[in-house]
Amino acid sequence: MILVTGGAGFIGSNFVLDWLATEGTPVVNLDKLTYAGNLENLAAVRDDPRHEFVQGDIGDRALVESLLEKHRPRAVVHLAAESHVDRSIHAPTDFIQTNVVGTLALLEAVRSHWSALPAAERESFRFLHVSTDEVYGSLGENDPAFCEATPYAPNSPYAASKAGSDHLVRAYHHTYGLPTITTNCSNNYGPYQFPEKLVPLMIVNALEGKPLPVYGDGRNVRDWLYVADHCAAIRVALARGAPGETYNVGGRAERANTDVVTAICAILDELRPQRAPHRKLIEYVADRPGHDRRYAIDSRKIERELGWRPRHAFESGLRATLQWYLAHMDWVDAVRSGSYRQWIDDNYGTRGAPRR
Ligand code: NAD
Ligand code: TYD
Repeated sequence: MILVTGGAGFIGSNFVLDWLATEGTPVVNLDKLTYAGNLENLAAVRDDPRHEFVQGDIGDRALVESLLEKHRPRAVVHLAAESHVDRSIHAPTDFIQTNVVGTLALLEAVRSHWSALPAAERESFRFLHVSTDEVYGSLGENDPAFCEATPYAPNSPYAASKAGSDHLVRAYHHTYGLPTITTNCSNNYGPYQFPEKLVPLMIVNALEGKPLPVYGDGRNVRDWLYVADHCAAIRVALARGAPGETYNVGGRAERANTDVVTAICAILDELRPQRAPHRKLIEYVADRPGHDRRYAIDSRKIERELGWRPRHAFESGLRATLQWYLAHMDWVDAVRSGSYRQWIDDNYGTRGAPRR
């Protein structure tokens, strides 16, 4: 079995569902259930005996050690993090606490467990750390894409906190020999993304007839990857990645923000013609402070060495994402409302399995 952290968030829940459908081995899912973690994402596996949910903090070393001892996972897949750049600008402390201090506590618990394992288990054990391309900073229009050797230059508190966690993971490999693997991925989109990030925010606002706030001149570029492709990359990195290595993961889909928002509007015009043209809702607003201009990922290493490739083109992935949100506006209402929080309080203890 494997231990996943942050498996009730956007990528984590997609990963858990994907893992149970493909690999099929049991998952213990440790998640604090911050505003970004939603058990509704995992409703499909609520009664699946292969999935055990534990509400708790990666920084709670005693809890993590007890989970490792009880379940003896062959791997830890670490996704838990504070993940939204705008929030990190307003309140950086939580980002350092979870992404740096929390990752350190998790590494300490894992190191203590791992070093006491019998040799064969110690050898095959993996700690897979899921990180971001934002650690590399910002590119100019004609710069080559980020590769694994690009120097770190994080610009936002979020990026700095992820860079800090990457450095700790690297140090635990070099100093203690912990078999770590790090993936640095570009911007994801797809089902279950909390409607504060660009793609779901624009979809939900457009459906509700609200303004679509595009920062600055809208020409900031991101490299977009459909979340299922990221889940597949994590799976192959875990299966075949070499300890101590890092792998960049990207969609070969660089798009300026204005073009992403316009594409969302065009698909909605087709699917919801009554409100067309949705692009009239676009509003250019004050820029994000320190806004990185361009991210681009060179993912040739994971393609060449591990045989991974993105399978979803941006346009088809975006259409599938829109269709998912159109069919799941009840999920959007639930994750935005206080009733979801109340449901958690009513159904879960501070820790452990649901109260039934
Ligand atoms: P998310 O914000 O949707 O989910 C994060 C999850 O972590 C939530 O379920 C939250 O409850 C949980 N969590 C937060 N603090 C915790 C703590 N202290 N202990 C236990 N659980 C905690 O994030 P996401 O977009 O799914 O990102 C997952 C990971 O992938 C993050 O590490 C992020 O840096 C990385 N990443 C994200 C993207 C992206 O585009 N979203 C791209 C590359 C890398
Ligand atoms: P975001 O989804 O927050 O991801 P990140 O900052 O991690 O790349 O934002 C993606 C891009 O969209 C980024 O350039 C900021 C921009 N953006 C807007 O223009 N308007 C918005 O309301 C949001 C949330 C983001």
